[in-house]
Amino acid sequence: MPEIRPVTKENWQTLIGLKVREDQRRFVASNLYSIAQAQFGDEFEGHWDLFAYGIYDGDVPVGFLMYGFNFLYPKHQAYIQRLMVDENFQGKGFGRFGMIKMLEIFRADERVNTVGISYEPDNDGARKLYASLGFVETGEVVEGEVVAELKLK
Ligand SMILES: CC(C)(COP(=O)(O)OP(=O)(O)OC[C@H]1O[C@@H](n2cnc3c(N)ncnc32)[C@H](O)[C@@H]1OP(=O)(O)O)[C@@H](O)C(=O)NCCC(=O)NCCS
Repeated sequence: MPEIRPVTKENWQTLIGLKVREDQRRFVASNLYSIAQAQFGDEFEGHWDLFAYGIYDGDVPVGFLMYGFNFLYPKHQAYIQRLMVDENFQGKGFGRFGMIKMLEIFRADERVNTVGISYEPDNDGARKLYASLGFVETGEVVEGEVVAELKLK
């Protein structure tokens, strides 16, 4: 059974070694960048606290995810900031697993009404995954990325 584990001083160097395929690099920032960003949070129409995790298959790191919370943001209070599965482990359900774990965390928090996500318009794999979990495109485009939302309440 896969699991997610927080990024720590013990595992961050292993997690920055995970990479997507060359042709996927423009879809997602490097884990090195994301882990640096997570130290400070994000400023997008207010402050977002960021939470970074590795996705593991047993003791083998296979992917990375990061989400943000801003409980004061009217549109969505949780935001899926990053999701990647290493090129050697894609297509085995780890991406879907990471999404389901994040949604479990959000559902357990009564302050989260709606979850946001965004992706490049031609990222068909990501779009299909998010749509299958109930995300609906809002019609907005932010920094060139399509925005989608999932209402939890
Ligand atoms: C998107 C990504 C995280 C999916 O992770 P994954 O472990 O390969 O995906 P899964 O095996 O869990 O597949 C989940 C679903 O994704 C979709 N999917 C994934 N890759 C796909 C592809 N190349 N083409 C079409 N659909 C794809 C399918 O709908 C699949 O549904 P299924 O479970 O019914 O088969 C992974 O491909 C990745 O890291 N891509 C590069 C980085 C990226 O684009 N991240 C998202 C940024 S918004």
